[in-house]
Amino acid sequence: MTWLASELARERDEALEHGLDLLRDTWRSFDRARPDQPSMSGAVAELVSGTLPSNGVGLRQALDDAAGVLDESLAQSRPRYFGYVGSSGLGSAVLGDALAASHDVNLAAESGAAYLVEQQTLRWVGELVGYPAETGTFASGGMVSNLTALAAARTRALPDSRRSGVGSSSPVVYASADAHSSVERAVEVLGLGRDNLRAVPIDDRRRMDPAELRRLVEADLAAGAVPVAVVATAGTTLTGAVDPIGEIADVCAEHGIWLHVDGAYGLPAAATMTASPLFHGLERADSVTVDAHKWLFVPKACSVLMVRDGATLRAAFAHEASYMVEEEGYAHPVDSTLEYSRPFRSLKLWLALRAHGANPFRTAIAENLRQAQELYDEVVAHPRMEPVLGRPDLSIVPFRRVPAAGDADRHNMRLARLMQLDGRVYLTSAVIDGAACLRPCLVNFRTTDDDVRSILEVADELGARLEAEQA
Ligand SMILES: Cc1ncc(COP(=O)(O)O)c(C=O)c1O
Repeated sequence: MTWLASELARERDEALEHGLDLLRDTWRSFDRARPDQPSMSGAVAELVSGTLPSNGVGLRQALDDAAGVLDESLAQSRPRYFGYVGSSGLGSAVLGDALAASHDVNLAAESGAAYLVEQQTLRWVGELVGYPAETGTFASGGMVSNLTALAAARTRALPDSRRSGVGSSSPVVYASADAHSSVERAVEVLGLGRDNLRAVPIDDRRRMDPAELRRLVEADLAAGAVPVAVVATAGTTLTGAVDPIGEIADVCAEHGIWLHVDGAYGLPAAATMTASPLFHGLERADSVTVDAHKWLFVPKACSVLMVRDGATLRAAFAHEASYMVEEEGYAHPVDSTLEYSRPFRSLKLWLALRAHGANPFRTAIAENLRQAQELYDEVVAHPRMEPVLGRPDLSIVPFRRVPAAGDADRHNMRLARLMQLDGRVYLTSAVIDGAACLRPCLVNFRTTDDDVRSILEVADELGARLEAEQA
């Protein structure tokens, strides 16, 4: 070992205990603390604006600096973070991530047991949610998983499209009006054209209307278009609505259309007794997205794309490269996915599932579902709050604070911002059918009933303050 390498190794080993202490402190602070607001202290502002140092401060100091930066960043892992769709940085999975990064295996080509673990993990996720996955891949997030699935669907519907583009054919993709914008982006990136994404109307529970889907498909077929895929959402980002997968699968089966289920946020709920009936028909999908970094609690980025027929992924992505020669009968993993270099994302999920088993995951998800129902009841019972929709399917509970006078939309938008600045509870706003509201989303195993109660307490306290300022 060179002198420099041995010095660096000594410094690393000396700092290791300190790094572990920082991790321990972080996890302990999550157990008791509210979210920190992203207000920046002078020290951190200075730290994040400096130029490249010629001589470093040393690993121990750099670790402290990094911890200082993180203390002043908005951590989704905290139990009172209810914004967007959060994630919780499960500690066992954090350790898995560190181990995976240390070995840094190559998942594009031959990687020995690592690739087998990836495949096993996605089958485990399939078992958890009730999907018979043959194979699939891990991706950075729901965005890339949805893109990967739609690339496979495009290749199946238009086999020449990889070589010659979509030409004069009119490819069409269908998704509910409330589908995540990643579907629209994927359609754009794949060259299918945003105008060819049909926003299928939704019912009064904001679920895709299968009769409307059938009507649109039949009209498109009559006009000579090529239906490429239907994307059913299993838990919309806006309200947590679960599209009726079985009825949508009937339409797809009638016309031979690829069915992709985007369960990035909501599908883990299929692992619970209470919510599993909502996902009836899931096993009929051609491909399914689940983001493990959402409701399976592991740190970002860890999205699972499962497919029923692995040949469809290979048809979409296989390539020959003279620097990656394949022996007969062996296909490199990169032939089934978009990314060449990618982290060993599945290890953290595998490690957490192996360490804890499926049951604690089921229990924690069921807890979030129960908490959402109770929050809904509290909103209904509260004199100054109102739900925007009926009882939630999953764990998003959009509600409004009703001011005594003035514009309720403006009041709720300002309230969301004020709550973010206040820092006790982190919520984001949303607009549903033109009505501005607060939109708590519960996907954290650390969240207690007290944490959930604090949502209405803080919203009412700060809402009253806003009204007093306006009076
Ligand atoms: C239903 C759904 N699909 C896709 C995505 C995109 O996922 P990611 O941010 O992991 O790319 C989200 C994100 O919230 C989502 O809720």
